[in-house]
Amino acid sequence: MNPPTNTPPRWLLYGATGYTGVLIAEEAVRRGHRPVLAGRSREKLAPLASRLGLESVAVGLDDARGLVSALQGLPLVVHAAGPFVHTSEPMVQACLSAGAHYLDITGEIPVFENTFRHDAEAKDRGVVLMSGVGFDVVPTDCLARYVADKLPGAHELDLAIAVVSQASAGTTKSALEGLPSGGFVRRGGHLRPWPMGKGVRQVRFLDQERTVMPIPWGDLVTAWHSTGIPHITTYMAQSAAVAHALRFTFPVLRRLLAVDAVRGRLARLVESNVRGPDEQLRQTGYSQVWAEARAPDGRRVAAWLQTPEGYAFTAKSTVRAVEEVLASERRGAFTPAQAFGADFALSIEGVRREDAPA
Ligand SMILES: NC(=O)c1ccc[n+]([C@@H]2O[C@H](COP(=O)([O-])OP(=O)(O)OC[C@H]3O[C@@H](n4cnc5c(N)ncnc54)[C@H](OP(=O)(O)O)[C@@H]3O)[C@@H](O)[C@H]2O)c1
Repeated sequence: MNPPTNTPPRWLLYGATGYTGVLIAEEAVRRGHRPVLAGRSREKLAPLASRLGLESVAVGLDDARGLVSALQGLPLVVHAAGPFVHTSEPMVQACLSAGAHYLDITGEIPVFENTFRHDAEAKDRGVVLMSGVGFDVVPTDCLARYVADKLPGAHELDLAIAVVSQASAGTTKSALEGLPSGGFVRRGGHLRPWPMGKGVRQVRFLDQERTVMPIPWGDLVTAWHSTGIPHITTYMAQSAAVAHALRFTFPVLRRLLAVDAVRGRLARLVESNVRGPDEQLRQTGYSQVWAEARAPDGRRVAAWLQTPEGYAFTAKSTVRAVEEVLASERRGAFTPAQAFGADFALSIEGVRREDAPA
């Protein structure tokens, strides 16, 4: 897929100085875009803007007028400042007011649900709202759509993810925010609580078989919108020992993490100790996704995707999503696969898909 050739696309990248924000900014420049870099800290923005030769604007998410004013003349926002349970809504409101498209890289279930709640307003205002244009959920969403399209009438969908990389501080802090809510699956079209560590099984990935356990991945919301399949379980590869330990320790862990002061303290520890993957790991790491749709009569369709390392993928998929949204006439709240189709993931460099034998 070639980068755009005419006027360089201009849009707002909020949270540009975070670990992932910087990767998105660099990928955008590589593809010929000229994003305006935004965030709450002028001091952090200045060196990045100077290095990449881009404009910048400092504005807090609590400054509703400032956000709308920062959006004047810009068609779209990529929101990269998380945890999004705390940051998404003010930016969605600013986008609806300013008439700008909203894209974010969340993986948080309440945020996906909130984005879809604004569907009617988005249509009225003539904008797109799209959460999850990063690793969570583009590969899984596209693969879910792919197997669902091949098996009309499917009533069950399993998705499993194996990640060869490590988490950034921002991802770890967002996970901390979600843990007190516990695990979930989707059953009969509704999100249902699911004990963490229950339902451990083996899944064959492209490279090897792995132990996986159900985790509350964003597809519990997005795959429901993208496929309409009412029973969905999302799994993550995990060592059997960790999954087993979680089964017994999670209820206590969950109660501890529900205390704001405990989460706050852990978040500070994460900020000072956790670093995202370095350049080498971003180049050598990779992820694999497996999806299986099943019909009531026993038919099943499965497939795999292999993607570049998750943060490298997120930078690429985000900029590709910007290009698709700017070129599209669709308006409203969508998942990536709903708006762009199952093959969108294949338009991202380094992604390949394989069908499982029938
Ligand atoms: N979907 C995916 O696959 C995917 C991939 C990567 C990341 N993510 C998500 O993206 C988010 C960022 O991750 P990261 O690794 O880039 O984290 P990070 O390095 O900690 O960066 C977070 C960024 O958000 C900003 N921020 C946080 N709270 C804010 C607030 N209340 N107001 C304004 N700015 C705020 C921070 O600004 P300051 O520096 O001023 O604090 C910083 O620029 C996380 O939620 C992560 O889970 C998702």
